Amino acid sequence: MRIQSRSDGASRRRILARTCAAVAVAASCFGLPGAARAATDASPTIYKNDDLSLIIETQELKRPRIDKVVASLGLKPGMKILDIGAGTGQQSYALAAALKGTGEVDATDIEPRLVDYVNEQARKKNLSNLHAHLVSGDGFDAFYSGRRYDLIVMWEVYNYLADRPDYYRRLRACLNPGGRVVMVEAEQMSQLGRGFFREDFSDWDGFLSALKREPADSPFGAALGKPLRGLFARGLGGDDPLVVRTVLFHVNRLLETRFYKPFSDGVRLKPGLDLTPDERTQAEWMLHRLTLDHVDQREFPRLEYQLVSMMGLLNKLLVVSHFRPYLRFDGRSPYWSSAPEAVWLLRRDGHLRDMEAGGFRLLDESPFVPYQAVWTFAADDGAHADEDAP
Ligand SMILES: C[S@@+](CC[C@H](N)C(=O)[O-])C[C@H]1O[C@@H](n2cnc3c(N)ncnc32)[C@H](O)[C@@H]1O
Repeated sequence: MRIQSRSDGASRRRILARTCAAVAVAASCFGLPGAARAATDASPTIYKNDDLSLIIETQELKRPRIDKVVASLGLKPGMKILDIGAGTGQQSYALAAALKGTGEVDATDIEPRLVDYVNEQARKKNLSNLHAHLVSGDGFDAFYSGRRYDLIVMWEVYNYLADRPDYYRRLRACLNPGGRVVMVEAEQMSQLGRGFFREDFSDWDGFLSALKREPADSPFGAALGKPLRGLFARGLGGDDPLVVRTVLFHVNRLLETRFYKPFSDGVRLKPGLDLTPDERTQAEWMLHRLTLDHVDQREFPRLEYQLVSMMGLLNKLLVVSHFRPYLRFDGRSPYWSSAPEAVWLLRRDGHLRDMEAGGFRLLDESPFVPYQAVWTFAADDGAHADEDAP
């Protein structure tokens, strides 16, 4: 499966100007592990904000990427599809519409307000093949028992499921022969992959020259000029280990700051940035999330890990957009580093490990740049037929 680029859907999306929203949604929607687990432990619902419209508008921002994935799934009329953790139903609507009135889409969630909302929207949108169901977040719900699907979609739900191998083992019984599970999640969760390594640059000398040329009053000049000026004045070669180490240290340190501020205007990115449509979609979504969580007004020690991580990824896109000619682009790099250390961690990613432990085998993994991936799984040979859900 390849996820193709398409024209700039980001420009059509609404960005919220309001300021408070579900803290848990912020972390969860990006599939970051720590926050989601905390949210799961703390409450039967992940949504901490009572304003349903804020949650809806936030998840609607994903639509351009959802449409792209749904178009790549090869859906056939009459298919039976399960969308686990449907939230406000953005994936469910796209799936049900793609079946053109045939088949069946079951959308499940543990949040009653969202289940009601999705059913109401299904009626309004004339999606008679879509039905939302309330399930319990406590293990694998009895709703699934005896049901069989051709496709199961899990979009940023992984983090909420406790005892995932066991959950997946039971889920396997819900697949029709030849059925697939498609997951969309953050591709890598390690901090290491978020930084830049020397390997991520195709033209290191060009990058250093560009850094030296950076005007002192530009955001990059202001942030990097002072710490690097002394180093450059020493006349060391670009590949001198001290130069490599120091430059990367300061660039990576910049990622963990509010560097994105001069590039943004409230919840919008300023015009003129060299972002691809997909980068812009993701960057604006992250900016939106950071704003909703009042990141500007909070002390750094009070910021949750996942918000600092999101900030790092937003900043990284800005660095990528500015120094694009000097970076490697081979499908994955430079969004996640292609350095051996980072790749080593990527291969040990939790999604794959947990699904394999639950009796699935990976059919395909497509980087969904920037930052996410689409994993397609099938039940391991012969494993799905005999077992039943509780
Ligand atoms: C991060 S949101 C993702 C929503 C939607 N898939 C999206 O991408 O916008 C995760 C959703 O999973 C739901 N959820 C959490 N645990 C669940 C469980 N065990 N079964 C079904 N849904 C669950 C939450 O209520 C929430 O709506």
